[in-house]
Amino acid sequence: MEEKEAAKRLRELRGEIRKHDRLYYEEAAPVINDREYDRLYRELVDLEKQFPDLVTPDSPTQRVGGKPLEAFAQIQHRVPMLSLDNTYSEGEVANFYKRITRLLPNEKIPVVIEPKVDGVAVSLLYENGRLRHAATRGDGFVGDDITQNIKTIRSIPERLRGAAPKLFEARGEVYMDKHGFEKLNEERRKAGLPLFANTRNAAAGSLKHLDPSIVAKRPLGIVFYGTGGTEGVDVDLHSEIFGLFKKVGLPTSERWWLAKSVDEILNAIHELDRLRHNFVYQTDGAVVKVDSFQQREGLGFTAKSPRWAIAYKYAAERVETRLNDIIIQVGRTGILTPVAVLEPVLVSGSTVGRATLHNEDEIKRKDIRIGDTVVIEKAGEVIPAVIEVVKSKRPRGATPFNFSKHVHGKCPVCGEPIRRDPQFVAWRCENLHCPAQTTRRVEFFAARGALDIEAVGGIVADKLVERGLVREPLDLFELKVEQLAKLNLGTEEAPRVFGEKNATKAIHAIDRARTLPLSRWLFALAIPDVGKTTATQLARFHDDIEDVAHSQLLRDVLNYREKREQKQNATEIADRLIQAGFAKRSKSKAEKDGIVTEVGPVVAESVLNFFASMTGKKILRRLKELGIQPKSEKVSMKKAAELPLAGKTFVLTGTLPSITREEATEKIEALGGHVSSSVSKKTDYVLAGTDPGSKFDKAKQLSVRIIDEAEFRKLLAR
Ligand code: IVH
Repeated sequence: MEEKEAAKRLRELRGEIRKHDRLYYEEAAPVINDREYDRLYRELVDLEKQFPDLVTPDSPTQRVGGKPLEAFAQIQHRVPMLSLDNTYSEGEVANFYKRITRLLPNEKIPVVIEPKVDGVAVSLLYENGRLRHAATRGDGFVGDDITQNIKTIRSIPERLRGAAPKLFEARGEVYMDKHGFEKLNEERRKAGLPLFANTRNAAAGSLKHLDPSIVAKRPLGIVFYGTGGTEGVDVDLHSEIFGLFKKVGLPTSERWWLAKSVDEILNAIHELDRLRHNFVYQTDGAVVKVDSFQQREGLGFTAKSPRWAIAYKYAAERVETRLNDIIIQVGRTGILTPVAVLEPVLVSGSTVGRATLHNEDEIKRKDIRIGDTVVIEKAGEVIPAVIEVVKSKRPRGATPFNFSKHVHGKCPVCGEPIRRDPQFVAWRCENLHCPAQTTRRVEFFAARGALDIEAVGGIVADKLVERGLVREPLDLFELKVEQLAKLNLGTEEAPRVFGEKNATKAIHAIDRARTLPLSRWLFALAIPDVGKTTATQLARFHDDIEDVAHSQLLRDVLNYREKREQKQNATEIADRLIQAGFAKRSKSKAEKDGIVTEVGPVVAESVLNFFASMTGKKILRRLKELGIQPKSEKVSMKKAAELPLAGKTFVLTGTLPSITREEATEKIEALGGHVSSSVSKKTDYVLAGTDPGSKFDKAKQLSVRIIDEAEFRKLLAR
């Protein structure tokens, strides 16, 4: 083929493919099937290979282009990307409307109600109709440059259709569609990779990937819902932008409503709630926005969000499904937990097939029987729970579930005897070598927040234990690439090996864990009663693991309690603990002359017992043999009190723009502050991101200072 002829054919092909992309993605009305589409696409690829000089940057083939990045560049938004005030209460929506009518007296104020898409906010800049770049929200002012990744989303055009405005900053939400999410998680489950908790996490995780060729495989879409900076765009009403988006070829909301009163707003919110389950993307609320841009200007902004909009979030989703079975799972501490096996249903963006039943008493109290129709609830990241039984749908002959009879005094996994643990109202398998316990411990050991070895998730841990390659978590450090590569994650009939590449990655991750700080290690060892916060506290007051194992401080905590209980003089111990910074004088009257220690006697006893046990001793020995010496984050007492955030308590809520909650926690703790999980009068700061939860409202109620990430950074810098 001559170059001229090729150029012509290339133009045709590109035009065709764009047309079919549009029909498929925007109009949901494809006129050719996937095979035919692939043929066109193949022809384009081949022809471009023959004539590389004729490849244009906006060719459909360039979507999946680009090399993996080292890191994202930063992009400044032309107009800041703000977030919205959230509420779960219809009353507050009504107040919102009343407030704006007060602020703009004697004016009619039409508002638009549209779906709140549960994804990741992005901003795309089109210059003269061509996509220049795309960015995440970041801190609202500056975001990550995710242009390469955005280009892999087929429903996003590289060029706007029709007469293009000079400048068009389009704002929208990237989502992973519900169906694609299910499929992706299924694939990840098969590959033994950790699952995404919900569609939003999956979308965020995808967009943050540095390798666009991976992003290209993720089923992402976008809904545009607003504009940033624009030039040459002539609209006065928000309700006009839906038509505008459509005209230029940008996907936008499937449904929206115009309302002029509180009643109309609430009606729209209710109707959307009925419709939204059929949308391809996950929604978690309705956004109510003043329609007129002029009125918006009159209303202005508060520190964080516009006064002209509010987000109403729907309550946690509840659905009915059948409870097919009750099975017993053995946790990492040997506790037997009954789990409901459900007829799989989609709730809040993920398929739920299991729900925890907590314990024997819970089953009795709710009278849950196999075959029952049950109501389950799931909100965001929370583990799904069985709320109640729909008694009217109970099949005849359903008998109450008898836990004790079911387990017959034996662990369902290893068959060893079980004992009822009075402290936990639960049955417990006391065989430390029970494979179920080992697997859970390995999983926990490798989990995020512990040693963070992503490759060792559910199935991999399962198989490693099953094949006898790992008998306890520390065995991971003696695994060889060859062993791991051969690991069969499938069954004997349908084998599926882990593979050399995955194995090498996994061994690297395991190796990296050697150098993690003491707090992570203390947490990873799954010492009873030692959570993340306690692990951090312990790490700050001890030199290394051996020091924790034989801690004089912890022994003092126990001695102190004993002396107090026996009404003996404990002043000497108290002084010692205070001097070490491990305790403070109690202000409570009941505890006259008492002290409050950094960790309580229950924890102290648990930690000392753990390291004195056979298991604990063995761990200490193995760590030495493996040459693993986690370093402590100990700070000298004097220094601790001088740290900038000493004595300050923080509570975190919502998603922060550019750091994870773990990172924020680490920063706070490194500067002497403390992170608590609930808001009280004693809280100094609530660090709130987007979509904050009830903690935000509580903070408002108690007038606790609420800060955003920008203020937090200032605090750190000080
Ligand atoms: S408008 C200044 N409309 O929800 C207001 N946001 O906190 C800009 N979102 O950050 C946002 N669907 O990521 C708007 N239809 C919609 C939305 C929407 C989802 C997200 C967006 C924003 C957050 C609100």
